[in-house]
Amino acid sequence: MTLFSAPTKKRTRSEAIFKTHCNLIPGGVNSPVRAFHSVEMTPPLIVVSGSGDTIEDVDGNRYIDYCGSWGAMILGHAHPQVVKGVQERMALGSSFGITTVEEGLLAQKIVKKIPSIEKIRFVSSGTEATMTALRLARGYTGRSKVIKFTGHYHGHSDALLVQAGSGVATLNSTATSKGVHAHIVQDTLCFPFNDFEKIRSFFKTPLSKEVAAIILEPIAGNMGTVLPDRGFLEMLREETTKAGALLIFDEVITGFRVGPKGAQGLYPVDPDLTCFGKIIGGGFPVAAVAGKAKIMDYLAPLGQVYQAGTLSGNPVAMRAGLETLLQLEAPHFYETLQKKTDRLLNPIREAVQVSGGCLQECGSMFSIFFGLSQVKSKEDLVSLNKKRFRELFSYLFDRGIYIPPSSQEAWFVSSAHTDEHLDYTAKSVCSFLSSL
Ligand SMILES: Cc1ncc(COP(=O)(O)O)c(C=O)c1O
Repeated sequence: MTLFSAPTKKRTRSEAIFKTHCNLIPGGVNSPVRAFHSVEMTPPLIVVSGSGDTIEDVDGNRYIDYCGSWGAMILGHAHPQVVKGVQERMALGSSFGITTVEEGLLAQKIVKKIPSIEKIRFVSSGTEATMTALRLARGYTGRSKVIKFTGHYHGHSDALLVQAGSGVATLNSTATSKGVHAHIVQDTLCFPFNDFEKIRSFFKTPLSKEVAAIILEPIAGNMGTVLPDRGFLEMLREETTKAGALLIFDEVITGFRVGPKGAQGLYPVDPDLTCFGKIIGGGFPVAAVAGKAKIMDYLAPLGQVYQAGTLSGNPVAMRAGLETLLQLEAPHFYETLQKKTDRLLNPIREAVQVSGGCLQECGSMFSIFFGLSQVKSKEDLVSLNKKRFRELFSYLFDRGIYIPPSSQEAWFVSSAHTDEHLDYTAKSVCSFLSSL
């Protein structure tokens, strides 16, 4: 096994396996970003295992992992308690399509932790959670339009695969994907994140009375880490309340990541509905939509908003989520995670600035943007230096460090990251920056 091997990494097995996959699976992957197109690397990583803060590829190369299954693995890989819990539950049968005890236990835990939530419905992916949240908002309000922000990603359901390029609210939103018909996205309105004025003036128009909900990542992760400006979330709360629309926080990334109550614990704003994913599944396919009982009870079988799933609330996945959330309750968990993140970032912060970029962070999620001094919205990313990011990616990859393979994603620190690995990473990033 090679630990943090030198630039000419051997990846012959990866190459062969990827070639086979390409003949069987479109693009060789089951989710596009895994193809590593945006870092121009072939073959992409083909992983065999993970332990703590490292993953190992099929060629025996090890990498310190700052992607952590896109933020899900806050405890690192194969955490002993999660493994034990899952094995115990597996031995009792893994799927019934019938209610099991674990669903109630995980529901209870999450409802207790997040003050804005009274009821929760588990699904299997973040996409399902946001899709259900929208359907629920439309069913509850009897309205059709939804507002989202450019650069915010809410999964791949048709109505949310929209990104208006101009940064102007438009009735002619265009779908990001072929196959999404114009009539499906005509009710999705896009605004630039952190633009107070555009939202305020929109809510003065009669059209605002047709809005069922605003959905957003309260702290954006899918255009890199971008925080809301002071007062922005409060303004959205105020305008939606006045207009009789719902406010939906998509906390699929930020939930239990940026703190024990997610983004809504950091800002004085209670959303009507919250979507979770990633961390609450402890590495298994779990997500959820949650919120006030009077809204949640519109869901079938009590209400007339339909939602269902063969594997929803799967007991093995619920147990993984439970074991994970239990670990987050350890004394000073988030303080320790912050210290680890600072250990990595303190040496890097200034060097990034000197290189003409910026580092944006919230708790253990952060992003480096090259060529920009600040990012407040997707519109700011026009002159992002993607080439420089690609160079950083391959520089780190060659040194056994794996960061998310895209310039507009968040990196994640887990509780499993060791001081030795954090220091090694900081040193490697700094040496890249000083070589510029
Ligand atoms: C904020 C956010 N919402 C929704 C989703 C979709 O989740 P999934 O990939 O589980 O469908 C993601 C995925 O990364 C996400 O980051």
